[in-house]
Formats: sequence, C-alpha cells, structure tokens
Amino acid sequence: MKALIVYGSRYGSAEKISQEIGDVLRNEGVEVDLLDSRGLKKFDTSPYDLVVVGSGIKVGSWTKSALKFMENHQNDLRDKKVALFVSCTANRDEKLLKEAQEKYLDGVAEKYLINPPLATGLFGGVIDPDSKFGIMDKMILKMVKKDLESKGIDTTKPYDTRDWDQIHKWARELIKN
Ligand SMILES: Cc1cc2nc3c(=O)[nH]c(=O)nc-3n(C[C@H](O)[C@H](O)[C@H](O)COP(=O)(O)O)c2cc1C
Repeated sequence: MKALIVYGSRYGSAEKISQEIGDVLRNEGVEVDLLDSRGLKKFDTSPYDLVVVGSGIKVGSWTKSALKFMENHQNDLRDKKVALFVSCTANRDEKLLKEAQEKYLDGVAEKYLINPPLATGLFGGVIDPDSKFGIMDKMILKMVKKDLESKGIDTTKPYDTRDWDQIHKWARELIKN
C-alpha cells in the first residue's frame, strides 16, 4: 500500500502531525510520501491508494495551498481513499470543537471532495509565544490569549492541545478498511 500525505502548515503543527501520521503508517508497512502543499501545482497521485490532506487553521481557514491541492486534484482523488485532518486549538472547548468539525472538516469535505472522506480528524494545535507572528497575527492572538488567561492558562508558555494518542489511533484506523 502507498500513501501520500499533503499538508499546509503556517507555524509547523500540521507538518509535525503529518510526519507523525507518516511514521505510524510506515510502521504498519505502508510506503509513505510527505508533501508540503506550498507552491505545489499538479502532482501525480495515481500511485497512491490513500491520500491524507491536512492543514493548520488560522482565523477559521485552512491554508490556501492545501485547499488548492484538493481543488486541483478533485477528479484524481475521486476514487481514492481520502482522509482529512486539521490542526487547531478548537478542541479546548466542546462547543468550539463541534463548530470546528462542521466548518473545517465536514464543510471542506463537502466543498472540495467528490466522494465523502474515509475519515476526518480534528487534532489539537499549538500556540507558541516564541513563534514569529506578523502584526495581524499578534492582534488576533491578543483575543485568544485573553480567553486562555481567563481559564487560568499560562500564555507565556507554549499552549499545546495536541493528543498524540488520538493521532496515532486515527492513523492506524486509516489502513484497517
Ligand atoms: C493568528 C492565529 C489565528 C488562529 N486562529 C484559529 C482559529 O480560528 N481557530 C482555531 O481553532 N485555532 C486557531 N489558531 C490556532 C492554530 O490553529 C494552531 O496554532 C495550529 O497549531 C496551527 O497549525 P499550523 O502550525 O500547522 O499552521 C490560530 C492561531 C494563530 C497564531
């Protein structure tokens, strides 16, 4: 079996998750290729049985390049096993998590894929105060930080909501069908 993992990542979290999914699949005997969606135009997906596409979320949006990959390969992905994941911090709250599942995964699958995905995964994300943020990002993060601090979270340290056990289990499930 051959798998392709395509990711769009602004600060490195979706990239790290992709590498981890790749490692899990390789341990299960799958041949894996990892691809950064940035700058990618057309890619030959014909050798792959499984295609995983993932992105970090910023202000409610996937990276443009990961969406573009799905748009440019919509027909190629039609009859393949396709799984989608996002890395975001919406898993910190039940209500946010439900909205995020609908918007970032179900909505994106409906818009960009011809057939329903094999699986979707909403994985946590990281907000690391040491990341290089632009001015707009810093302004947005002020609001996020306020929310986190009101819950007693120390925002001077990296805030990481990723659950690696969840990610490993999700990856292993992909090849069971
Ligand atoms: C400027 C900014 C905006 C963000 N907006 C959202 C958001 O709208 N929803 C959310 O759940 N997480 C949001 N996050 C958290 C990111 O999704 C999280 O940092 C994730 O790990 C980013 O993945 P990436 O590093 O692969 O891009 C935001 C983070 C930053 C820095």
